[in-house]
Amino acid sequence: MTHPAPRHTGHGHPAGPAAPATHGHPAHAHTHPGRSHRDDLPDGLAEMLDLDAGLFAPHIAGLTGRIARLARGPVTRVVDLGAGTGAGTFALLERFPDARVTAVDTDQDMLARITATARARGLGERVRTLEADAGAGLPGVEGADLVWASASLHHVEDPVAALAGVRAALRPGGLLAVAELDGLPRFLPDDAVPARPGVEERCRALLDAVHAERVPHLGADWSALLAAAGLTVEEERTDRLALRAPLPESAGRYAHLVLARIRTAVEERADPADRTALDTLLDGGPQDVRRRGDLVVRSTRGTWIARRPAA
Ligand SMILES: C[S@@+](CC[C@H](N)C(=O)[O-])C[C@H]1O[C@@H](n2cnc3c(N)ncnc32)[C@H](O)[C@@H]1O
Repeated sequence: MTHPAPRHTGHGHPAGPAAPATHGHPAHAHTHPGRSHRDDLPDGLAEMLDLDAGLFAPHIAGLTGRIARLARGPVTRVVDLGAGTGAGTFALLERFPDARVTAVDTDQDMLARITATARARGLGERVRTLEADAGAGLPGVEGADLVWASASLHHVEDPVAALAGVRAALRPGGLLAVAELDGLPRFLPDDAVPARPGVEERCRALLDAVHAERVPHLGADWSALLAAAGLTVEEERTDRLALRAPLPESAGRYAHLVLARIRTAVEERADPADRTALDTLLDGGPQDVRRRGDLVVRSTRGTWIARRPAA
């Protein structure tokens, strides 16, 4: 798909990053496997992101808390890069009560959702949106205290260029927080479908192969890339998270959306018997993931907090 020139919507931010330049950067071709660019987002990504944000809210709050401890000076100018439905945007608005967030994404439907959510929560004055490709710099954004990039940097075509753009957007001493997942979460024990033990793991392996072809920066060496961009990594950690029973109903819905995406992604590669087994986890029958008591939501999340050196 081709992205249009950057577009700014929402309210002006007197205290936030400067408004983007009115001239756009060149249109930029980029693909998002399995992504929709329409308002209804039929692949369920928007709902999946919202469910993830709810389930992993304590993890996100832990990260924003660590950012607050590392921050030097007030955090008022914040950028959420590849903001999606705004998991980071809203967590950061809560953590930093004086902050205004510029939510950047290539997908105008996602940005429209953020605007709607912000208004519904009475936060409209603190959020603006910028339709732009994070790999092509951040037009008009400067002096940011914090840039947040969660599960988004691996999507850009050229992470080196993207990080150069982030560095330019940060004020000296400002922070970049990067969060990346090792892939989609896991949910089931090996014997979840007795007729096909290990079906989830096998389909995950196929998905990893799909990602290796289509999303080559997933699992990149972010420490090295951050350092090469002239940012000082001050914290790096890996959290192996496991959410166990009793789980909210949203965990079953989340598992259903994730496994349905895996089912679609591996459609052509999976053994037919594994496809059938996956179907039994999704079809509303007795083995459906929305009904099971044995779900554990497992996700490995890496985080890096890096600073633009003061000098
Ligand atoms: C997996 S979602 C993560 C959303 C959100 N940060 C979160 O943690 O829930 C990735 C987001 O990055 C956006 N994205 C992908 N490539 C991008 C690019 N080159 N520039 C800006 N946003 C991009 C997608 O449209 C999508 O909304």
